[in-house]
Amino acid sequence: MTFGQLLRAHRKQRGLSLAQLAVRVHFNRGHLSKIETDKRPPSVSFAEACDRALNAGHTFATIAAALEAAARRQQGWVQPAQLPATKRHFVGRQDGLDRLDRLLESHEPSLAVPVAVVNGPPGVGKTALAVQWAHRAVNDGHFADGQLFVNLEGPEPGTAASPVDVLGDLLRAVGVPADRVPADVDQRAATFRSYLHGREILLVLDNAADAQQIYRLLPGSPGCAVVVTSRSRLPGLLSMVDAVTLPLAELRRSEAAQLIRANIGDARADADPAAVSVLAERCGRLPLALVLAAEHIVSHQHHSAEVLAAELKPERARLNLAEGDVVLRTAFDTSYKALDEESARMFRVLGRLPGRLIDAVVTAASAGVSQDEASHLLRELAGAHLIRRQDERHYLMHDLLRAYAADLARQSDGEAEHADAVRHAALPVPAMNSTALPSLLVA
Ligand SMILES: Nc1ncnc2c1ncn2[C@@H]1O[C@H](COP(=O)(O)OP(=O)(O)O)[C@@H](O)[C@H]1O
Ligand SMILES: [Mg+2]
Repeated sequence: MTFGQLLRAHRKQRGLSLAQLAVRVHFNRGHLSKIETDKRPPSVSFAEACDRALNAGHTFATIAAALEAAARRQQGWVQPAQLPATKRHFVGRQDGLDRLDRLLESHEPSLAVPVAVVNGPPGVGKTALAVQWAHRAVNDGHFADGQLFVNLEGPEPGTAASPVDVLGDLLRAVGVPADRVPADVDQRAATFRSYLHGREILLVLDNAADAQQIYRLLPGSPGCAVVVTSRSRLPGLLSMVDAVTLPLAELRRSEAAQLIRANIGDARADADPAAVSVLAERCGRLPLALVLAAEHIVSHQHHSAEVLAAELKPERARLNLAEGDVVLRTAFDTSYKALDEESARMFRVLGRLPGRLIDAVVTAASAGVSQDEASHLLRELAGAHLIRRQDERHYLMHDLLRAYAADLARQSDGEAEHADAVRHAALPVPAMNSTALPSLLVA
């Protein structure tokens, strides 16, 4: 039965003439007649008036809403479902998932679009967290109008996707015909916002280079939500939008071992659980390194966790972890290549210093720069998530990144500078409070 036929049946059942129902629903008789004969589509507000006048619960409103949605699809809206597949084994990150849930379910009335920025070093699992959460949200019935996923290709200079191209792709993805995509970037952004208006869409902007790159891509209406991943803290973004930041660090000990176990299977892991733990530590509990190590074991049947852990004892060997075309070192290269010359030099200097704790004063001496300059450069490196700020004067460096920096230093700075840095590092340093170190890094 069509909407019109159903409406007529209900009206007749109540013994009402067209004119009488028209008075009750506050629409004119001609309009009512056209709807009853299916010559005109009912609006949701008209259907709600019918529900009230005919005591029909939500019968008519529900049908009208469905008809409207179908018509909207016919008018060119293509419901995008661009999320990449999630992995079967996702471990840990409960805090991150919960924080993203809260962002979505914030009960404060707000007209702002929720924006979350997941950031951290290469390979730490930013994309994996964003995608895992997005699938869960969709599975729970959110973002029913679609999900858009864009790889922004940051942060290496020259590779970052330009907003004008990305907006072109996004517009086509939601069904805007190519000849209706405006040429100008601001017009594209405005068209995109118009298309998204009133819809529940999730936009995942993966691997953003900087705030300018993503600002124009943000939807304007509150039914949408945005999750950005970036190796940078995206300075300047907060002046443009309200965004919550989720910094990601390496996995916890048990989670790291669990990730290896999930990927190599219980039988192999049970053969030597201690070796799995050692291997997890040698991978710095960095998800990318853990996954590569696990894949290595699985693809080379003869490899046990113990053999691989032994092979990875020299830090330099860890950088060469690779499977297929994914190489750990290459993941770090993209962050390193995005640095300006001075920051890159400072990064290499850090590779020559012993230990994971970085002291701004020692570093200034080793690099031969003023303390102000050293502090500035260390802040830059922390902004790129290549080191992590501990307090005003101290930073921490992930083991694998330190091995990487040391390798770069060996390659590009020569032995003379190396000897020089070691001499400076041996200078007496004011004592520091070791309790300030996070427990996971003092082991
Ligand atoms: N929590 C996790 N559980 C399982 N696998 C993970 C997890 N986090 C990351 N990975 C895996 O580690 C690798 C690197 O993660 P990815 O999200 O690409 O890092 P990033 O985006 O920070 O560079 C991927 O293969 C990913 O599937
Ligand atoms: Mg990523």
